[in-house]
Amino acid sequence: GFDQKLQGKRVLVSAGGTREALDPVRYLSNHSSGKMGIAIAHVAAMLGAEVSLVRTESTLNLPVLPSIDTITVSSAVELNDAMTMQEGQADIIIMAAAVSDYRAEEVAGQKMKKDKTQSKNRLNLSLVENPDILANLPKANHYVVGFAAETQDVVAYAQAKLQTKGADMIVANDVSDRSIGFASEDNAAYLVTQTEVKALEKSNKMIIASQILAAVLIDSRAKKK
Ligand code: C5P
Repeated sequence: GFDQKLQGKRVLVSAGGTREALDPVRYLSNHSSGKMGIAIAHVAAMLGAEVSLVRTESTLNLPVLPSIDTITVSSAVELNDAMTMQEGQADIIIMAAAVSDYRAEEVAGQKMKKDKTQSKNRLNLSLVENPDILANLPKANHYVVGFAAETQDVVAYAQAKLQTKGADMIVANDVSDRSIGFASEDNAAYLVTQTEVKALEKSNKMIIASQILAAVLIDSRAKKK
């Protein structure tokens, strides 16, 4: 059977892209499929961890093992609430969700109509900043992993993000490569910590998930976290 390397550990994972409502029928979102985060949740469960998954509605097409405690959220604010509620019980937090940086300043109560009186063929949306969930998570009592999707200078940006977000590890992908990331079954990444940059070659997201969790175990022991 599987060895139980994460036995006794409580792992909290977020997965999927948030949806920011504009009105009852429209939203702003991104291309995240949630496959990477859900693969991490499954591998952690198979390694014996007690897993909590906070997934967005965009991931509801993906199956999740019934043994994984799952909450479904839609927006960044809902995701923030769910993570804040659960972080205190987690030893390892993996923030794989793609969070919208902004949401609509006002959500229309009714479907927005095309305004035919406007002379300009233009609609201005006013957006306000969402909370940075990863940056705001307490870091002292658990090992915290963030993700970074970049199109250039992937490692340098990940190293900067490690500091600004106060994370223990950043999993950085090059999203300009269409054969990996987002809806793909495969991923390739750099695991960036304060002491190391480790390149993971392109493989299935379940394999990448095991490599991330193995690196988390080693580094969390080294940091006594
Ligand atoms: O700043 P950037 O969006 O590139 O950082 C990505 C990492 O930060 C991911 O782990 C993502 O889940 C997290 N994040 C967050 N809250 C935000 C934006 C990003 O937790 N508002």
